[in-house]
Amino acid sequence: MNTDMLYHTIFKRKSIRKYDESPLGESMLSEISNFMLELEPMHDHIKTEIKIVSRYDIKNLTPIKAPHYMIVFSENKKDYLTNAGFMLQQMDLFLSSKGIGSCWIGMAKPNKGALKSSELEFVIMLAFGKPIESLHRAHVSEFKRKNLNEITNIMGMDELFETARLAPSATNSQPWFFIKDNHKIHVYCVKTNAIKAVIYEKVNKIDMGIAICHLWIAAAHLGKRLQWEYNESAVEHSPKGFYYISTLHITA
Ligand SMILES: Cc1cc2nc3c(=O)[nH]c(=O)nc-3n(C[C@H](O)[C@H](O)[C@H](O)COP(=O)(O)O)c2cc1C
Repeated sequence: MNTDMLYHTIFKRKSIRKYDESPLGESMLSEISNFMLELEPMHDHIKTEIKIVSRYDIKNLTPIKAPHYMIVFSENKKDYLTNAGFMLQQMDLFLSSKGIGSCWIGMAKPNKGALKSSELEFVIMLAFGKPIESLHRAHVSEFKRKNLNEITNIMGMDELFETARLAPSATNSQPWFFIKDNHKIHVYCVKTNAIKAVIYEKVNKIDMGIAICHLWIAAAHLGKRLQWEYNESAVEHSPKGFYYISTLHITA
């Protein structure tokens, strides 16, 4: 996969909510289907299935009307939501780099027929199509995001963490926090109260995969490799108000 093209898109992408409702052309759809086969999982032992459906195949609670929707189904295993976020964010960036608009949609479900088309659990979807609003941001200052010092206490790695800072998240909650421990980076997610957790716990774990995807792409751009593991001690040392997601290593 050419992640460099995705890297540059991180700094200008935005959610597109206004679409030309006519379908994309066959050649663009086949280019998208080909890229779908290239998506890298964060955890390759988790089985996933990704499908493109039309707006008649979904129940959408948002006013967004796109001609196409990409639906992720997954085995329900530890880290499956983060894995889905990691995978589909590669597609979000790819579409934007190709002049196609997209928007993550938490407030929609496949209809009965589409649900039955996979044996795996429905996770999340991405609306996409030809935008009828501006596709890109002209400058990073147009992103409404937290400052770097609100998402990490790590100094000297701004180029890397800037990409996580710009990552999209459900309701723009930006639930991530990154802590350095020697050569490792521990990734944590904000805990929500019991009422909010009903909705947010699922989407927040997807958000975490999106931010890790941006870090993985940024590491590749810097000529490095990002790898991850589960670190028991980092779980025990979770900062107050956060829960543990993963531990990242940057290798040459
Ligand atoms: C998991 C997830 C679910 C989302 N669900 C919705 C949604 O249902 N409706 C919507 O309009 N935007 C949705 N969004 C888009 C976010 O609101 C958007 O990414 C965030 O506000 C940041 O804006 P930006 O993507 O333009 O940078 C979702 C984003 C994520 C990551």
